[in-house]
Amino acid sequence: MKVLIIGSGGREHTLAWVCARSGLKPAVFCAPGNGGTAEIAENVYINVGDFKEVLNFVGKNSIDLVIVGPEAPLVDGLADVLTSNGCLVFGPGKQAANIEGSKAFAMQLMLDCGVPTAEFATFTNLDAAKRYILNNENALVVKASGLAAGKGAIICSDSDEAVSTASAMLEGGKFGEAGKTILIEELLTGMETSLMAFVDGEDYLLLPPSRDHKQAFDNDEGPNTGGMGAFSPLDDLTPENTAMIAKTIFPPVLKKLTELGTPYSGLLYPGLMLTDKNTADKGVKVLEFNCRFGDPEAQVVLPIMTQDPLEIMLAVAEGKLGKWMLQNNLDKHNWQKLTGGQHAATVVVAAEGYPESYVKGMKIENLPEETDNVITFHAGTALKNADLITSGGRIVAITGLGNTHNEAVTKAYSAVGEVVIEGTRYRKDIGRKASQ
Ligand code: AMP
Ligand code: GLY
Repeated sequence: MKVLIIGSGGREHTLAWVCARSGLKPAVFCAPGNGGTAEIAENVYINVGDFKEVLNFVGKNSIDLVIVGPEAPLVDGLADVLTSNGCLVFGPGKQAANIEGSKAFAMQLMLDCGVPTAEFATFTNLDAAKRYILNNENALVVKASGLAAGKGAIICSDSDEAVSTASAMLEGGKFGEAGKTILIEELLTGMETSLMAFVDGEDYLLLPPSRDHKQAFDNDEGPNTGGMGAFSPLDDLTPENTAMIAKTIFPPVLKKLTELGTPYSGLLYPGLMLTDKNTADKGVKVLEFNCRFGDPEAQVVLPIMTQDPLEIMLAVAEGKLGKWMLQNNLDKHNWQKLTGGQHAATVVVAAEGYPESYVKGMKIENLPEETDNVITFHAGTALKNADLITSGGRIVAITGLGNTHNEAVTKAYSAVGEVVIEGTRYRKDIGRKASQ
């Protein structure tokens, strides 16, 4: 079997790691991959933005399955191009990927099928947006509707800032086309949670819930990043809570997408805010949907799976997830059975200055060797001659595994301490949000 993974981050290294350990024993190609994927797969330097070039590579190399890591190629329709040419793809088509590509579409979808979310309104006109902000004192979250590399949601401290943010997007060109339509949402508070599931039409299989640390600095200070660390599972979400939450989200959304003629296939990841820790559904509200694995959530959720994720991705791509679950005696909500009781935590080592400007090209030394309970996933790394150097803001994510949350966190931190890269930093409090 031959697998092509599209993307170059920590998530894609994790997907390559999963493939390298799979019982299906695939040959793995990564386009373009990174310094870590080069060790366990073959990096290929095709232009992944040029779908014809991808198709050509797939044909020439008899690729059996393409796994698309990031959202942008999915939203641009890569899966449609590949599937219409007879190639198996893990990842949704363009229309279904719009659940991440257009926040306006996602919010309307939730409204239409009764999924709990923030109060919101959509605007293309600044005067109307201003009026809404001034009439709703908690309308403090301003979002670009389109893709903005994870930077398009701005939490404002007051209505003046909300108005100026709306103005920067609608009239100032901030985020370009993505910010021509904006959403203004009520500010929700609570515990953020990532709940990912493999999805094939109306069938789904939950992965263990995880939690990401988005802000750049300890104690959740500083700007939002792609994620500075994560852990899974969560001590504030029992399997019963998780099942209840999942039932309010997945069946109605998947049914609706199927009715719209765009059934979902791939990984669906609603980002949740748990607004009330004392109720069974934790006062869940969906903040957004992503059409791919979370990064760095993939680095904690996939390594604790006892089942083979590649087998599941193949079953999804073939439209056979329900059959696979029956054969493996797995209930869609029974994520505990998937993990065998393991815990994971990952700590991201990032360039000083990330998520704003930062230096690249620093030499990377002393990355921890892989053991049964420590794995180093590369993100922004590249090989220059024989040297491993930094090539991005998030450089590596070091995952620790253990039988308890604390054991996993301790393993990750003791390994992170070994890494030597000039001009980098990492958060010292990953995992502290286990419960509050
Ligand atoms: P999004 O791009 O919609 O995922 O938003 C990025 C981040 O902004 C989320 O992970 C939350 O931390 C935060 N966020 C988004 N929407 C809201 C909201 N309505 N209330 C509070 N925080 C939010
Ligand atoms: N870690 C957040 C995301 O992948 O969207």
